[in-house]
Amino acid sequence: MMKKRILTGDRPTGALHLGHLVGSLANRAALQDEYETFIIVADVQALTTNFERPERLSDDVRQVALDNLSAGLDPDKSVMFVQSMVPGIAELTVFFSMLVTVNRLRHNPTIKSEAGSYGYTDMTYGFLGYPVSQAADILFCRADLVPVGEDQLPHIEMTRFVAGRFNELYGPVFPEPEALVSRVPRLVGTDGSAKMSKSLGNCIHLSDEPAVVREKVMSAVTDPARIHKSDPGHPEICTIAAYHRAFNAQESQSVEESCRVGTIGCVACKKRMVEVLEALLSPMRERRAAFSGPGLIDEILVEGTKRACAEADETLGRVRRAMRIDYFGGRDA
Ligand code: TRP
Repeated sequence: MMKKRILTGDRPTGALHLGHLVGSLANRAALQDEYETFIIVADVQALTTNFERPERLSDDVRQVALDNLSAGLDPDKSVMFVQSMVPGIAELTVFFSMLVTVNRLRHNPTIKSEAGSYGYTDMTYGFLGYPVSQAADILFCRADLVPVGEDQLPHIEMTRFVAGRFNELYGPVFPEPEALVSRVPRLVGTDGSAKMSKSLGNCIHLSDEPAVVREKVMSAVTDPARIHKSDPGHPEICTIAAYHRAFNAQESQSVEESCRVGTIGCVACKKRMVEVLEALLSPMRERRAAFSGPGLIDEILVEGTKRACAEADETLGRVRRAMRIDYFGGRDA
């Protein structure tokens, strides 16, 4: 039996954080034995917003790859590759772009909210169209499952639409991939806002040093109505309580009960969270260090990209045959 496939990944726009970890990275690592796993470092997608600063990509590409490896991705099991180095993804994007109307893109909720947060009054063609390119990221290897955070669901919907439309017009080439949303599809930021997000500066990064993690946790926003330890707390509105649910499932109920009756104070509750996060992050730091040797990460990405290119060639062959644009029997020019 052929294993089913996973494709997922990240844009290299800076260090990944705990929201990425619980939203998608932990699932990727847990499923890599069961599924043939492809991890995309989506540098072209990063350019849709950072096209004026391409020089940052070189570092960020390696950092995002290291973040994935530190979370348990194993380069002997999973294929980790760079989007811009797989020309087949760009070619697929062009073919798919014929299947998607501008209005469908304009109504994509994630595009809308991102355009709002970047303050775009008008959008580039590349930014508006990145969901089509993301469909090509997913379908170039004919993936079945896409572990993602909640904000990515409209893009998976788009991918299913593109796959269905292609198959209907030209014949069955693509599966309609399913999204896999984790137990914690969205993590609150340390400032208490709904989402841990780089643009809001409220993140605990996977690569943060212990002192930084401690400082961020100790200064995180909690229940503002709670001033003294004996005041009854409201875990349902507290950032740290949300982190206990996400990272300390075993104790979280008893922590919440003690908070409600005022027997555990915010400082003790935060200190416990610092310990929990250290237990989580310290083995990840070790894995990061192990993959940080000279040239190692580059080698992993180059090897992974070769495998991705081979897969893209296979898919593009099928696409051209299905579309009847294999004019010369598949011969290269
Ligand atoms: N859009 C995703 C993000 O911002 C990154 C991404 C690019 C992706 N291509 C993908 C995720 C394909 C899943 C599948 O995090």
